[in-house]
Amino acid sequence: MSSTDSSAPGVEIKYTQIFINNEWHKAANGKTFPVINPSTGEEICQVEEGTRADVDKAVLAARKAFDIDSPWRKFEPVARGNLMRKFAGLLRRDIDYLANLETLNNGKPVEDSKGDIYASADCIEYYAGWVDKIVGETIPGAHDQLIFTRHEPIGVCGQIIPWNYPIMMMAWKLGPALACGNVIILKPAEQTPLSALYCAALIKEAGFPPGVVNIVPGDGPECGNAVSSHQDIDKVAFTGSVEVGKKVQEAAAKSNLKRVSLELGGKSPLIICEDADIDYAVSVAHRAIFTNAAQNCTAGSRTFVHAKIYDEFIARSVELAKTRVVGNPFDDMTTQGPQINDSQFKKILSYIESGKQEGAKLECGGEKACEKGYFIKPTIFSGVKDDMKIAREEIFGPVMSVLKFDSYDDVLKRANGTSFGLGAGVITKDLTRGLTFAKQLQAGSVWVNDYDAVCNQAPFGGFKQSGHGRELGRYGLEAYYEVKTVVVKLI
Ligand SMILES: NC(=O)c1ccc[n+]([C@@H]2O[C@H](COP(=O)([O-])OP(=O)(O)OC[C@H]3O[C@@H](n4cnc5c(N)ncnc54)[C@H](O)[C@@H]3O)[C@@H](O)[C@H]2O)c1
Repeated sequence: MSSTDSSAPGVEIKYTQIFINNEWHKAANGKTFPVINPSTGEEICQVEEGTRADVDKAVLAARKAFDIDSPWRKFEPVARGNLMRKFAGLLRRDIDYLANLETLNNGKPVEDSKGDIYASADCIEYYAGWVDKIVGETIPGAHDQLIFTRHEPIGVCGQIIPWNYPIMMMAWKLGPALACGNVIILKPAEQTPLSALYCAALIKEAGFPPGVVNIVPGDGPECGNAVSSHQDIDKVAFTGSVEVGKKVQEAAAKSNLKRVSLELGGKSPLIICEDADIDYAVSVAHRAIFTNAAQNCTAGSRTFVHAKIYDEFIARSVELAKTRVVGNPFDDMTTQGPQINDSQFKKILSYIESGKQEGAKLECGGEKACEKGYFIKPTIFSGVKDDMKIAREEIFGPVMSVLKFDSYDDVLKRANGTSFGLGAGVITKDLTRGLTFAKQLQAGSVWVNDYDAVCNQAPFGGFKQSGHGRELGRYGLEAYYEVKTVVVKLI
């Protein structure tokens, strides 16, 4: 189904410059880059293009904000937490504007943008609650020793984020970093810098001292690389593709061996057992892949279905996929917006072509959905084999690949037979089977009778090439503090 309404509210673009030291700056090289509306393919505005010189400037500001005598370093934990709560409140205050801005720039339906913003505000508040609970340990030593640890901020943290959840990825990065008392240079994705720049204004309004959060829009090879290879940035956190994650880790190692945390892609399995309630299984599998136009690192993109229910599963899934409303994300009826840009759009269509050529059966979709913009119809392939490209590579588009199994031992091996390990799901009424899978699946998150049930208080991250380090929850703090051991001799 496609939405016929093509109207969009006039969203005023308020900020297009580089945010350093709580001030707006023009790019050092005098250049700007276009930001495109993925629903139309048309330019929204030009944004200042950050390069190495701008990152250098941001690092100087951040370094100053991190001076041992700076206001930020002298804040009581509770004061830091209060600023974070204020920022969360401002996100909620401006939710209507911010959701429209996010939808204009990213293309996700407005209700989805609102959901992301509420979750982001909750995330910042969750970490605001941690500021006075980041504690070390006392450790038994010799009779004349007192040994304890302190958890200290790392310092200047570079954060490079993707375009699929622009505000939420920013919140996941800012929350734990600020809670631990770090200072930040954040580089939004070049496709979606607008909501991050608006949030910069909210950060200033909340009262964060200058230099604590700096936002430098720009591309990956120049601006992102300037962050990951910088000699005076102490840590880099990255979310995006495996290919770039490796470059970030390499640049970090070759420069100053800065700390690295990576949240990368996936090819996550969802296993549907023969005893599953079929309606429930179909709806979970649908949500697992099609949420956010399938631009989701945990997308359940390999749907393994037991042979006994396979045909029925396919028929019901096709029925459900056809009810999905693809089109103008400002229309209340729309459930799926466009892909982010022309290159993703073309890449996804070429994956669909490869699925057909390698012998999978196209059950529905498989083509663009609207004349303008980067819309793709929800697509389902049956008869998918493990060695097909669509079963091995991250598509990041609305393509459900359904694979058949009849042995649980076998499907476990197949599910684990990938270099990724971000998420995995299993749908079954047999809790022992569900928990056995939970134990044996190689993934950072396993959902039993659910999928993508991510919450701020539970850690999230990857096994294998899906990354290292964890975001969210108490574990998410570990990426943002150093552990110092203090040994006191009691003379
Ligand atoms: N895990 C995720 O959440 C996620 C998000 C976006 C994309 N992806 C995957 O990545 C594929 C390509 O999308 P993409 O090209 O936008 O992702 P990407 O990995 O190129 O971009 C992510 C971020 O990294 C930056 N970047 C790019 N090159 C860099 C470099 N050399 N050094 C430092 N930073 C750099 C980008 O500017 C952006 O901010 C997608 O098809 C999808 O498979 C995954």
